Parts: sequence; structure tokens; C-alpha cells
Amino acid sequence: MQYIAKNMIPGPIEIVRGKGIKVYDQEGREYLDLTSQTLCLNLGHGHPVILDAVRELLNADGFTYYVSPRFKNRKVAELAEKLVELAPKGLNKVNLHLCNGSDATEDGLKRARKYHRDNGKKKIVSLKGSYLGASSETISASGGNIWQEPCLGGSGDYIYIDPIEPYRKPAGMTLEDYTKAKISEFENLVKRRNDIAGIIMEIVPFNAGILVPPRDYMKGIEKVCNENDIAMIVDEIQTGFGWCGDILASNIYKIRPDIIALAKGMTSGFPALAATVFKEKYDVLNPGTSEYTFGAQTLGSAVALANINYLTTSGILDTIPEKHERFMSHLKRMKEKYPFVGDVRGLGLLLGVEFIHEDGSPDKEIGIDVFHACIERRLFINIPTTFPGYHSAISIKPPIIITPKEIDESMGRLDEALQSCMR
Ligand SMILES: Cc1ncc(COP(=O)(O)O)c(C=O)c1O
Repeated sequence: MQYIAKNMIPGPIEIVRGKGIKVYDQEGREYLDLTSQTLCLNLGHGHPVILDAVRELLNADGFTYYVSPRFKNRKVAELAEKLVELAPKGLNKVNLHLCNGSDATEDGLKRARKYHRDNGKKKIVSLKGSYLGASSETISASGGNIWQEPCLGGSGDYIYIDPIEPYRKPAGMTLEDYTKAKISEFENLVKRRNDIAGIIMEIVPFNAGILVPPRDYMKGIEKVCNENDIAMIVDEIQTGFGWCGDILASNIYKIRPDIIALAKGMTSGFPALAATVFKEKYDVLNPGTSEYTFGAQTLGSAVALANINYLTTSGILDTIPEKHERFMSHLKRMKEKYPFVGDVRGLGLLLGVEFIHEDGSPDKEIGIDVFHACIERRLFINIPTTFPGYHSAISIKPPIIITPKEIDESMGRLDEALQSCMR
């Protein structure tokens, strides 16, 4: 451990084995994992679909485990075709030369700015509380700007706006009016300035606290982008590949962004592949300007294809609404029971629990206690990287293969953890 740099010192638990939603530490202790390990493993640990895809390639005679992405690759081409098939109509170009979510969001930013290079538009709107990546530019883009330090670079060409938060809508306002007001706020910003190249946003801002927007909000933002010819870059790194009940949340919200960023669940956590899918008019980058050595590999692409095939043919996505209801009925019960639980919410199996003080203001401290109380009960939940950041919500993002029994068991442990945090 003495050689591990300060920015990556891990916690005390060593995970040595995993199966489904369960992991085991060095002492053989079993944990229920509601985090999907940095929110990646939609099929859980050790799923045969993923393992078989890897084994098949590794066992093939002469398997080339690394080929430069500058050569043609059948699996990469197949995956690009599949992503276009699954994306909203009209998004028909794919960049798979990417390894991480940060590469994908940054690819979106580059495309928006290059498209607008001749008209001086270079500002990008981003949501407060968001996390979009760890490269200099994506740190700069992230609206949960606790990491931003001038020495870390990034263009700084961002305008941060508040996300829509149905739970915190102004008193006396209907959700419909609040939604309209938030759309107008964005529209006025775009019209007031003439330097905006695009907006980058998640559909359900994850690190800001699982803020599920009304359907009309996303449609409204899309309309403003289209009418003003600015790029709508949607980060589906958290929402993509099953958790929300579809391959893409864009399909659930019936929106057609200009650029969609994908990573994490695309390969069910198998390293390292990310992608952007976008409209042809954003196919503007020169070779080499958004292309990484380890992108576009056969192994990652084959795993992504196997994963997507399973997600789209096994019926697993049809189980999401029922699992959502089961989680929500537990969480709603906990909200009734614990006064410091202000709101419980979610889309599919992206779920959030927001903590409040007695006066309803965000309690930015208690989440850490809940997190530790969960670990003591051998339950992993997620504290957003921004914690205590925008508000004070923990998130639950289990592998989607979780069973009803595991939902009940894990929610029993969360209940006990909350009980232990009563002040
Ligand atoms: C919404 C979102 N965008 C981008 C990223 C960056 O992805 P990566 O860590 O793979 O670079 C993350 C990572 O957690 C994320 O949650």
C-alpha cells in the first residue's frame, strides 16, 4: 500500500470473489452490493454471458488481444451497427475509439465545439451537482465543481445551471408550471447569449442525487436545442444499458439528443470501452483528435455485443418495473419511519434517498453515517462523488439481475442502518 498514490487509496475491504450481487472479502465475509461496483456491473459479478464471450475469444487460435484501433475490426463495426440500431433514430455515427466515460463526455464536448468553431460559440451549459469525468476538461465541465482547481486546467468555458428537482419545486407551484419555468430559464439563457455551443447533461443526474426529471422537461430542452442549433449532449454513462428499463433512457424519454455518451454498463464493467453515438452533422473530428490507444478493441466490443444481446433478448428488462416497485415500497416505508428521510425516488433501478434536517433543508452529513452503518451490515450503497455536494442523497444502483429476495434482504439491512443513525 505504501506505493499507492494519495488520490487512489482504497478502503480496507479487499474483494476477492463475486457472484451475482454478492461479493466476498479477504476474510470470506459476504456483502450485498447495491453499487454494481462503481455503477458498472448491470449483470452482476461473474455472469456467464460475459465470461463466455471472453473465453470464446481467448480460446480462439491466434487471438490478437491487442490490435491498433487504426485497423479494421469486425467486432467494432458490428457493435457500432448495434448501437445505431438501439439509439434514437437519426443518430447514425459512432466513435468507439474511447476507453472511459471521461473520454466519451469529452468527445461530445469536442464535437459540439468543433461544429461551432466558425461562429465563436464555445460555451457549454452544464448542470450543477453533475460529475462528467476526471480529465482536465471534464473536471472543468462537471457542475459538482468540488474538484475544480485552476492548476488542473480545462477550458473553464462552462455555464452551470440548476437541474430540475421535482422534490424541491417552489411551494405553491405545480410540477407542470415548474417544468415550464425551468425550460424557459434555459431558453432565455440561450437567447440572451450568443456564445452557447451546447448543453451537456444526464437525463437522471446521478451525482446530484438521482434527480428524475419530468418527461416534458427533457422534451423541452431538446426543443430549445433544436430551435437554436446548439448541441444536446446527453451523458448516459449511468442511465444506459438496462437500469432504467431500456437500453437508453433517451428512448424512455422519447428524445433525440445530438450526441449520447456511453460507458460503464455497455460492457457490464469489462474494461475498457466507451462510445459516443451522434448525428452525422457532428461527425466533425479529424483522425487522432478523439482516439485512444486502448479504444475499439475486439475483446471489449465482443463483450459489449454479448451483454447487449442478453439485455435485449432475455426478458431481463421486463423485470425492471416490478423490481422498481419492490424497492420503492421498502423505501417509502422507511421514509414514513425516519424523519430524516425527506424523499425517495428513482427511475427503474436507479434509486435515491435524500436526507433532510427537521426544517426540510438538506442534511449533508448523515449520508456518510448511513454509508458506514450499511458497511457494518455488509451492504454496499453509493455515496455520490460530490458528497456532501449538491444535496444529500445516497444512491442505489444494484445489478439488474437482483432477485426479489435479495431486494428484501438488502432493504432490511438499509432499514437497520437507518435505525442506527436516528439522532
Ligand atoms: C455520469 C458520469 N459521466 C462520466 C463519468 C466518467 O466515467 P469514467 O470514470 O469511466 O471516466 C462518470 C463516472 O462515474 C459518470 O458517473
